[in-house]
Amino acid sequence: MAGVRLCQVRKHFGRTEVIRGVDLDIADGEFVVFVGPSGCGKSTLLRLIAGLEEVSSGAVLIAGKDVTEAPPKARGIAMVFQSYALYPHMTVYQNMAFGLELSGARNAEIRARVERGAEMLRIGELLERKPRELSGGQRQRVAIGRAIVREPKVFLFDEPLSNLDAALRVQTRVEIARLHAKTGTTAIYVTHDQVEAMTLADRIVLLNEGRIEQVGAPLDLYHRPANLFVAGFIGSPRMNLLPATVATIEAGRPSLRLPGGYEIALPAGPGELEAGASVTLGVRPEHLGLTQGTGGFGGPVELVEELGESHNVYVRLARDHLMTVRGEGAASSRVGERVRIDLPPGAVHLFDAAGKALRRAAPAG
Ligand SMILES: Nc1ncnc2c1ncn2[C@@H]1O[C@H](COP(=O)(O)OP(=O)(O)OP(=O)(O)O)[C@@H](O)[C@H]1O
Ligand SMILES: [Mg+2]
Repeated sequence: MAGVRLCQVRKHFGRTEVIRGVDLDIADGEFVVFVGPSGCGKSTLLRLIAGLEEVSSGAVLIAGKDVTEAPPKARGIAMVFQSYALYPHMTVYQNMAFGLELSGARNAEIRARVERGAEMLRIGELLERKPRELSGGQRQRVAIGRAIVREPKVFLFDEPLSNLDAALRVQTRVEIARLHAKTGTTAIYVTHDQVEAMTLADRIVLLNEGRIEQVGAPLDLYHRPANLFVAGFIGSPRMNLLPATVATIEAGRPSLRLPGGYEIALPAGPGELEAGASVTLGVRPEHLGLTQGTGGFGGPVELVEELGESHNVYVRLARDHLMTVRGEGAASSRVGERVRIDLPPGAVHLFDAAGKALRRAAPAG
């Protein structure tokens, strides 16, 4: 087992800088998830750690050892990709054993490791089958098994579940969490799936255009996003963001003017807030409530989405602003009717004109 450290890692492809100075310390045994929009550099960063790409500058350390110049084989890592890349003519057993055979391990040792790995992933009955005789989920478990038997110091996963259907994705995600709990091996996992990130990660690294926007425990990013980018990225449906002006500040209590001419008073504001300042108000759909009626903060219902266990109601606040309100169970609002939005001041996030978080409100209730 081993920690991973990145020091000012940069990567150019031609003249394009894709990774722009990443510093990161991953503790031994930690499960770290890289998330971020498509093209932000998640796979590239993982490949730099694996040694599949060379860094343009900076250093990569695994278990305290500088491996910046080391080939992948010498880094003690095992990688699982989206495509399983199993050998079609080999059985599951042979697929899992192949890497160990190449490294010259003894047969008894290979058998023991393959059987242990197969048991961990519950594919013990499949060892004599060929990949074409397996479901997608089983194939991905074999690919994970092939990584496990190598007993790496660090597991690297690049969207390992994205080829699976929804139910299998959940099942295999739980499998990966169990596996990590059992082996305690350091893991770095790339995904675009928020639920995977939130549920698997000890810490999430949110990347954007080759830079880290924020690193923290999943609930840290959810409750205390460092900036507008993180606020908008973490959470589904997305956080509502509204332009606002600080109308007055009385005894440290700011009053904000919102689109549509509404004003809301906050119980307390960040010290640096000044009257007249432009800010962005953020509030998560699940922290808003609805009541029927006219007058007050709200507007007509434009769309209702019923999800069964929850619902989303979209309320037209002003010409350019649609607010999402999420509630449990079935919606009681109908399209076209006017509703009042109940906005708990404690759930409000504020961001300055540059997008930096001003006040890290804990959600109410
Ligand atoms: N070999 C390459 N040559 C040139 N550009 C590349 C190469 N590999 C990646 N890139 C570029 O680097 C950027 C980051 O790519 P990367 O694959 O790391 O993104 P990603 O975050 O994994 O995206 P996705 O979520 O779509 O998988 C992209 O703009 C991509 O086009
Ligand atoms: Mg990728």
